[in-house]
Amino acid sequence: IPVEPFDLVIFGGTGDLARRKILPGLFRRYCAGQIPADSQIIGAARSEHDATEFRAIVAEAIREFGGGKACEDGTLDEFLQRIDYVTVDARGDTGWSELASKVRKDLINAFYFSVGPGLFGDLAERLHRYDMADDDSRIVVEKPFGRDLATAKALNASLAKHFDETQIYRIDHYLGKETVQNLMAVRFGNMLFEPLWNSQYIDHIQISVAETVGVGGRGGYYDKSGAMRDMVQNHLMQLLCLIAMEPPAKFDPDAVRDEKLKVIRALDPVEPHHIVRGQYGPSADDDGFRTHVGDPASKTESFVAMKIAISNWRWAGTPFYLRTGKKLKARTSEITVVFKDAPHSIFGAEAGRHNNELRIRLQPNEGMTLDVTIKEPGQGGMRLVDVPLDMSFAEALGPNVAEVPDAYERLIMDVIRGNQTLFMRGDEVEAAWAWTDPIIEGWQARGEVPKTYDSGSDGPTDAMAMIARDGRIWREIK
Ligand code: BG6
Repeated sequence: IPVEPFDLVIFGGTGDLARRKILPGLFRRYCAGQIPADSQIIGAARSEHDATEFRAIVAEAIREFGGGKACEDGTLDEFLQRIDYVTVDARGDTGWSELASKVRKDLINAFYFSVGPGLFGDLAERLHRYDMADDDSRIVVEKPFGRDLATAKALNASLAKHFDETQIYRIDHYLGKETVQNLMAVRFGNMLFEPLWNSQYIDHIQISVAETVGVGGRGGYYDKSGAMRDMVQNHLMQLLCLIAMEPPAKFDPDAVRDEKLKVIRALDPVEPHHIVRGQYGPSADDDGFRTHVGDPASKTESFVAMKIAISNWRWAGTPFYLRTGKKLKARTSEITVVFKDAPHSIFGAEAGRHNNELRIRLQPNEGMTLDVTIKEPGQGGMRLVDVPLDMSFAEALGPNVAEVPDAYERLIMDVIRGNQTLFMRGDEVEAAWAWTDPIIEGWQARGEVPKTYDSGSDGPTDAMAMIARDGRIWREIK
C-alpha cells in the first residue's frame, strides 16, 4: 500500500548508515510502488556536493548494498530524480535557508538524524529556527541513544524542547525485523502458547544473538561502548520485552510500549556472578579485539552472557538467559523457550525425561521449531524421543517471503505512516539505561577484565559454567 507523498531529509546523508541501509531501503520501497513519485528525499551533510554528485553517491550505494529484485530497468533513474542534496552545517548557519526552501510544508515531512547523538539538539533547534518543522513533522533518531541514563535523559530533554514525544521515532532496527514482529503474532495470535506462557509451565528462556563479524572498522565507537551498550541495552532488551510482556489490549503504539516498559521496570538488578563478559583474543587469521580497537589493554567486552530475573507474577522463578557476542561460531539470533518436564512420567524411568522446547529463529532462515515428545518408532516398550515440528517461514510462506522488506525499509515507511508502535519511547530507553547503568558501573568499580575467548567459539567457558550451575545448558549456536 503506497504511503502519502512526503519529503524526507536525511542528515548524515553521505554517511555509512545512509549508504548501507537508508538509501537502498528507500529505493527498494520505491520499486515496490510504495513511495509516490512526487515524494522527495534530500540528503543533507557537511560535505560539499551538488545534487548530481549526491545522486551518483546514491546510485553507487544502491549498486553496492542491494537494489532488490522487483526493480525494473530505468527505475533507478526515476528514483534518482526524487533525490536532492544540500550542504549544511549542523552547528552553524550554512545551508539551512536553502534546505528550508526545499522542504514542502504542505506534505508529510520527516527528518532522519543519521548522525552522532551530539548533534541531535542542534538539528532539532535549527529545524525550528528555520521554520521547517510543524506539529506533524517527524524526527528519526538512531542508537546509540545516550551511553547511560544521564546522557539519555539529556538527549530526550534536548529533543523535547522542540518536538512532542509523538513526533520522535527512536529506531531499534531489531523491532523492524520481520520475525521480531512475528513474536507478537505467535504469542497473541495463537491460543496454543499464551496459556502456557508463564513460570508455571516455562522452565527458562534463552535469547542468543551471535555474530561472526568482529568490530570491523568501528573500533573507536565500540571500545567506548561494548556489547552491553551496543546490543543488550537495546536489541536484546527489546526481544526480552516482546517475549515477556503482558498482552497489550491492542496493537497500538502506547498500548505495546506501556507493556514493554513494565517488563523493564520489573527487572531485578543483576548480581555480578550472574554475568560473564568476554573479549575475543587473537587467532590465526585475526589480530583480536584489542588490536581492532587500538588499545592493548582494553577492558571492553565483545561478549556478554547473563541471567536475568523478572520480578512479577508471570515470571517469578523463570530465569531468562541472554547472550550476545562478536566473532562467535555462527551468525544466528534465536530465542528458546524451554518448557518444564511433565509433572509425572507414566512411562517409567527408562523412557527418559522429555520436555517441549519452542525455538524461534530470528535470523538467518527465519522460522520456528517446536520439539514434541513421541514414541520412538518400532522399538519394543515405550521409549520416548523428541522430534521437531519444524516450520521455516520461507518454505511455509513461499514466494511472498521474498518481498519482505528489511528492517529499515519497514521502519522508515512506518515513520511516514505516523505509526510509532515499532519505535522506542523515551521512558522505555531511560528505563533500560537505569537497569544497565549499575551493571556497567560495577564492572568499572571492580576493574573487571573480560575473559578471553577464541574467535569462532561459543564464547568464554565461564558462560557455560554460569548456566551449568543452574543445571541447564545453552542451546547450540549454529
Ligand atoms: C547494531 C550494532 O545495532 O546491530 C552492531 O551496533 C551489530 O554492533 C548489529 O553488529 C547487528 O545487527 P543485525 O541486524 O546484523 O543482527
